Amino acid sequence: MSLEKTPAETCVLVTGGAGFIGSHTVVELLEGGYQVVIVDDLSNASEKVLGRIAQIVGAEAAERLSFIRADVADRDALETVFETFAIDRVIHFAGFKAVGESVSKPIEYYSNNLGNTLVLVDVMRAYGCKDIVFSSSATVYGDPDALPLTELSPKKMATNPYGWTKWMIEQILSDLVVADPAWNVVLLRYFNPIGAHGSGLIGEDPKGIPNNLLPYVAQVAVGKRDCVHVFGNDYDTPDGTGVRDYIHVVDLAAGHVAALAWMNGRTGCEIFNLGTGTGTSVLEIVKAFSAACGRELPYVIEARRPGDVTANWADCTKAHELMGWTAKRGIAEMCRDSWNWQSHNPDGYED
Ligand code: UFG
Repeated sequence: MSLEKTPAETCVLVTGGAGFIGSHTVVELLEGGYQVVIVDDLSNASEKVLGRIAQIVGAEAAERLSFIRADVADRDALETVFETFAIDRVIHFAGFKAVGESVSKPIEYYSNNLGNTLVLVDVMRAYGCKDIVFSSSATVYGDPDALPLTELSPKKMATNPYGWTKWMIEQILSDLVVADPAWNVVLLRYFNPIGAHGSGLIGEDPKGIPNNLLPYVAQVAVGKRDCVHVFGNDYDTPDGTGVRDYIHVVDLAAGHVAALAWMNGRTGCEIFNLGTGTGTSVLEIVKAFSAACGRELPYVIEARRPGDVTANWADCTKAHELMGWTAKRGIAEMCRDSWNWQSHNPDGYED
């Protein structure tokens, strides 16, 4: 049973806290009064994020932030973290996340994502910390039979190793609760996080050619890529292009703070969808981003991308009713903030 504590008394370990969703969550946690320890090996993140976070939250709040550069799978390093800090709760983001890459590197994906989680929960248990929020994904729903997706919608077969790691880690964490009811597990299933912090100081910084739609569109807008490639316009959707539930990353980050508050003093395993409940097509995104950047962005229609589902969007009633959380920002604001970040940081965190 986790003890009820105020945010000021609560020390949160954020694995992968220098990444896209992690960094935005750290900002919300610091602004919410929490003590935060980031463990990140910077394999897909920049150390510059730390200075930017401090700039956003101010010097006083930044004093509550510590950063340890380490791989979560490094047991000795993780034990040192638990020796040094009195960790109360963990938010676990660290993991490889490129769908396409996972198909060509299954061993690396299973080894890293499952391996680091197993080390993490084993060390947590050794130090008596049993509260964990896991960064899961709507990918566990596979190709949906019915929309919107609720937490009771069936989990389906994953279509790639990345998806399987999310699927399996959910299973591992729920098995922990069965074995030891003192565990307190929250599985957050994200829909499609986009946008950036309103300050334009932190945002998504993909390495190489972006796999996801929004960072690609943003790079077209900034002139780094010629045109948007729309993967398929023959889906059974209003304009024929794929439909997703895009959620502003700051709303998503706030969902983690809501989860920490909700799980305070509880035990068990609970699942929450984090989305907006609204589906948006690829062409609608191109249009919204064009409006945000003030220029018609060129696009070409390509073949469907293997493994893509036609449409998905969330029913987020549960998160609203239990945690009092709801996404506030719409597509226009997501595109505006993404453009603000991209236009001020055309090369991401690189000089
Ligand atoms: N798309 C394009 N062109 C691009 C990239 C994407 O048309 O250059 C389309 C896709 O076909 C899809 C939509 O834009 O219809 C969204 O694609 P993303 O790659 O941005 O996002 P996905 O929905 O495929 O994937 C996201 C996360 C995954 C997660 C998955 C589960 O990135 O981590 O949702 O729902 F597994």
